[in-house]
Amino acid sequence: MEKQELLYEGKAKKVYTTQDPELLIVSYKDDATAFNGLKKGTIAGKGSINNRMSNLLMARLEKEGVPTHLVRELNDRETLVKRVSIVPLEVIVRNIAAGSFSKRYGVEEGVVFEQPTFELSYKNDELGDPLLNDDHALALGLATREELALIRRYALAVNGLLRKIWGACGVTLVDFKVEFGRLGDGTIVLADEISPDTCRLWDADTREKLDKDRFRRDLGGVEEAYVQVMERLTNSL
Ligand code: TMP
Ligand code: ASP
Repeated sequence: MEKQELLYEGKAKKVYTTQDPELLIVSYKDDATAFNGLKKGTIAGKGSINNRMSNLLMARLEKEGVPTHLVRELNDRETLVKRVSIVPLEVIVRNIAAGSFSKRYGVEEGVVFEQPTFELSYKNDELGDPLLNDDHALALGLATREELALIRRYALAVNGLLRKIWGACGVTLVDFKVEFGRLGDGTIVLADEISPDTCRLWDADTREKLDKDRFRRDLGGVEEAYVQVMERLTNSL
């Protein structure tokens, strides 16, 4: 399968058409942004790590009953995926207070929740991805009630599975963001990526941050953190 036209370029990935109208090629970049593109940089080797990590994790999720867009990895940076139209929702599950949750609700980072929280943001850069609830998503026509229920069920299942996978690597899954898409026939599948760009991952013992927060917060050791979590994951498989 070969790349044809550039269909879309996002902050961290490019998406190309292929000869097959149902299939696209995703190409992961080393570019990193934060705060809605205000902060820009590169993380050397990130594209390849995120590509391979996302594929490993999605393959595991698929095996456990969560449908995904993954078809097959083509090379270090590129993956063949099913064409979807993205549901414009950022679907976030949290196990521990951090980031915008801590800021919004005045809760110290690191407070462990008794139950995971599920939250939705409207995926809209111009509006700064505002938080919304199911009724808002319905009013905006972003998804149906049935789709929202399925998205919630899949997101919580993904959380349970990812917690197990990362737990086996000595890594605590603090929170993550996923996106879902619709196939041509309307089937909802997990899309986008699962990587240190989209998850908060802490060393289970030391709570050292091993994810994109090192870039967002200028903590240094960004590349090393990506390499370390990737190594821990591959060593545990
Ligand atoms: P938040 O605490 O900033 O809302 O982030 C929650 C999770 O979502 C965290 O794991 C990082 C991830 N995330 C993205 O993947 N993309 C984004 O644009 C943002 C803001 C967060
Ligand atoms: N990817 C988002 C942006 O560019 C933010 C983030 O991951 O923090 O702004």
